[in-house]
Amino acid sequence: MELDLRTVMRQFATGVGVVSTWAEEPDGADGRRHDAITVNSLTPVSYDPPLVALSLRHGSAFLADLLAARRWGVSILAAQGADTARLLARSRQARAEALAGLPAVPGRHTGALLLDGPGWIECALADSFTVGDHLMVIGTVLATGVRPPQDPLVFLHGSLTPATTP
Ligand SMILES: Cc1cc2nc3c(=O)[nH]c(=O)nc-3n(C[C@H](O)[C@H](O)[C@H](O)COP(=O)(O)O)c2cc1C
Repeated sequence: MELDLRTVMRQFATGVGVVSTWAEEPDGADGRRHDAITVNSLTPVSYDPPLVALSLRHGSAFLADLLAARRWGVSILAAQGADTARLLARSRQARAEALAGLPAVPGRHTGALLLDGPGWIECALADSFTVGDHLMVIGTVLATGVRPPQDPLVFLHGSLTPATTP
């Protein structure tokens, strides 16, 4: 069953985003150790109140940080963000090195890093549910931002594909 689901979902094009959070670290530059991962499970689930969902794998080190901070940021990636998406899908150590070299600013409401891209969201933990081997995390939207439209990055057929808009 799992193999069939993976195969059919390869036909479903999604956008790609980066979720960021932090853990307290007194020796860190701003008292925090930042981390960020690539996701394609971002879903808007309610507009009034504004809520978004993410599905994060149980056992993920990033997920443990997110649940402790109860705050996170989401940056939507544009077509030229494919390298960033690949880097931030690697090990925590590789992600830390990649993050240090990426333009990013801490969000005003969460302190989580927001990356370049056509839009961003800051969230606070509203709820979470175990759903099989993932945890569905629901976030209250604290703030949003949009920048000029850019061609999107799409995940389809197991590949990160720069797309063009008319
Ligand atoms: C295109 C793409 C989409 C991904 N989407 C998700 C996702 O929605 N949820 C998730 O838990 N991991 C997702 N991943 C994997 C994470 O980026 C990351 O590798 C993993 O969560 C890191 O786990 P760790 O915190 O244990 O190191 C995705 C990876 C790629 C390349």
